[in-house]
Amino acid sequence: MPDRPYTLLSCSMSIDGYIGNGASRLLLSNDADFDRVDAVRASCDAILVGAATVRIDNPRLMVRSQARRHERIARGLAPSPMKVTVTRRAELDARADFFAVGDAEKIVYCASQRVVDARQRLGPVATVVDGGDTVEMRTLSADLAARGVERLMVEGGGKIHTQFLTEDLVDELQLVVAPVFVGDSQAARFVRDGAFPWNPGRRAALVDVSQIGDVVLLRYALSSRFGAG
Ligand SMILES: NC(=O)c1ccc[n+]([C@@H]2O[C@H](COP(=O)([O-])OP(=O)(O)OC[C@H]3O[C@@H](n4cnc5c(N)ncnc54)[C@H](OP(=O)(O)O)[C@@H]3O)[C@@H](O)[C@H]2O)c1
Repeated sequence: MPDRPYTLLSCSMSIDGYIGNGASRLLLSNDADFDRVDAVRASCDAILVGAATVRIDNPRLMVRSQARRHERIARGLAPSPMKVTVTRRAELDARADFFAVGDAEKIVYCASQRVVDARQRLGPVATVVDGGDTVEMRTLSADLAARGVERLMVEGGGKIHTQFLTEDLVDELQLVVAPVFVGDSQAARFVRDGAFPWNPGRRAALVDVSQIGDVVLLRYALSSRFGAG
């Protein structure tokens, strides 16, 4: 068994590389692309977002299509994948849609310092895992694999993307570019600063480009496991 799930990072960004305005959810995709993302979600065992995304976007992270939910049930799976988040401060609201909507299993990886607080606050609605002094995405990925997650979808935000990418834990990147500018250097970017394995000396492999209405989907193979998951 591989030591980590096949990992697919999915993100939509503006032409100028921003993914959010930091205050509320920024809708960048169109209906057809949201439906494509729904299909990708339905194909995964777990979906991971950072705690800031839980607080700002309040995502439900559910498979929306009834047909896809039924298809998962027919395969012996839960209607929607497991939901996973990561936090250092544990300032998450148990009433957030991430926790309150749907029957999917929810896992919170929390830095050791705040695990007691996190269990008090979120214990009734999620499994709180002590992620160590610093939650490492490689360790987290291995733990998810041990829990049976074979296919992981990472859906932001920028801090989470940065860690998965710089630690070379992503097999496939699905990047949507929406025809808008955000134009605010304080807004959330696709990634933060970091040493990325792909650079001018080692270019990532672009495997597909498709237009979906007014957005474009770029698919990159970031590991030799691309397409195997
Ligand atoms: N367009 C898109 O596809 C898309 C998708 C998702 C999100 N977004 C946007 O992205 C923005 C949020 O991105 P962001 O970069 O600010 O935040 P983020 O990546 O969503 O979450 C960062 C938070 O996650 C926790 N965290 C991250 N790494 C950790 C680690 N190693 N150990 C422990 N905790 C860790 C911390 O939570 P605590 O603060 O709780 O300690 C940290 O503040 C929002 O504006 C949202 O709308 C866009």
